[in-house]
Amino acid sequence: MSKKLDDFRLRVAGKELVPLVIGGMGVNISTTQLALEAARLGGVGHISDAMMPAVADDVHGTRFVSEKLKRHRRNVKQPDKSGVLFQLAQVAEATRLYVTKTMERKQGPGLIFLNCMEKLSMGNPKDTLQARLKAALDAGIDGITLSAGLHLASFALLADHPRFRDALLGIIVSSVRALKLFLKRAARVNRPPDYVVVEGPLAGGHLGFGLDWKKFDLKAIFQEVVQYLKKEGLPIPVIPAGGIFTGTDAVEYMEAGAGAVQVATRFTVTRESGLPEDVKQRYFEAEEQDIEVNMLSPTGYPMRMLKNCPAVSRRVRPACEAYGYLLDGTGRCSYLETYYQAAQNGGADKLHEIQKVCLCTHMRRYQCWTCGHYTYRLKETTRRNPDGTYQILSAEHVFKDYQFSTDHEIALPEDREP
Ligand SMILES: Cc1cc2nc3c(=O)[nH]c(=O)nc-3n(C[C@H](O)[C@H](O)[C@H](O)COP(=O)(O)O)c2cc1C
Repeated sequence: MSKKLDDFRLRVAGKELVPLVIGGMGVNISTTQLALEAARLGGVGHISDAMMPAVADDVHGTRFVSEKLKRHRRNVKQPDKSGVLFQLAQVAEATRLYVTKTMERKQGPGLIFLNCMEKLSMGNPKDTLQARLKAALDAGIDGITLSAGLHLASFALLADHPRFRDALLGIIVSSVRALKLFLKRAARVNRPPDYVVVEGPLAGGHLGFGLDWKKFDLKAIFQEVVQYLKKEGLPIPVIPAGGIFTGTDAVEYMEAGAGAVQVATRFTVTRESGLPEDVKQRYFEAEEQDIEVNMLSPTGYPMRMLKNCPAVSRRVRPACEAYGYLLDGTGRCSYLETYYQAAQNGGADKLHEIQKVCLCTHMRRYQCWTCGHYTYRLKETTRRNPDGTYQILSAEHVFKDYQFSTDHEIALPEDREP
């Protein structure tokens, strides 16, 4: 009989879980509700800490963004953003609030992790990262997945936290080289990661590859990582991610030695996903030629997006006084630099020439539609409504389809028509 994902288990922290991890999707696409569903169904869900103060404002009615803007209002017209800093206490408070409110509602046998991107340097990379990580542990998160960066110092930043050895801590890598660097630094604090996510070139969000991403293959990198950990005698679960679209894709990785699989794209179009309803329809409608990997992100990493999203064509005034999540330790962001150059050279007329997007503003407004490579297959996973729109799925439906389907079949939702 054909195997299904449910024939396997992820073994971590003395638990046996459904080996399905829903990856973190910023900014608030992987919502509390989505993570709660994954945990209720016995797998692992992620919330994302990207722009947490802004997300806390939207979800819990706090006023972190307006308070920060008020503090720095005088600077709005200045190109120099080196003084536009977050208050660490506020960063920690936002994280604690959001994580606590999520964990309080957790039910079922699964786990909830926080996805934490190093590239969100927030004007003060080391201290803000430490505040975010520690506050999440304080608030009882089950685990933290370190992403978008090498995170060479992150374990050391946490080493004196009482939960440093008990909470589950993992890292996302896209090469064995990056993993080796991380493990070397983790060894200094005598704390190996509890899991390693290997993200390939078909994933959504930022990619750990260059624009030559097509030359890379998740299966090959995954095998290399598995072999390396075996050789080193490190029994760490390896979790492949990027382009795992059916339960059978997942089974193939489990048979090749994966501890679990991480997926995201198929959950972007669920009711629990934070994307606005009309944007979910754009994801369903997308064809392969509508998706591109570009260099518009100020982080310098390539990012996969739908070409027709507002962020690709629209340039906005930088809003670092309110946001400023991508400012480096000297107050620089490549969007900011290109914006002021264009503004100097020709004012509003030249803004379309800017080769970057203001990710803070666009992600907050759900106008940067980052997506996985197989977004164009989402239409295969649902039915059309009588008005031509696509039926939105429940996270439970998609989760169970991964868990129980066989032979690359995809279960459609119940037919709502009479
Ligand atoms: C809309 C979207 C947003 C994402 N945002 C993030 C993010 O903020 N941080 C991160 O580490 N990964 C992010 N990812 C990557 C996912 O967590 C996941 O590893 C990957 O997309 C899995 O591949 P799949 O989408 O083909 O299933 C994002 C993916 C998508 C589709």
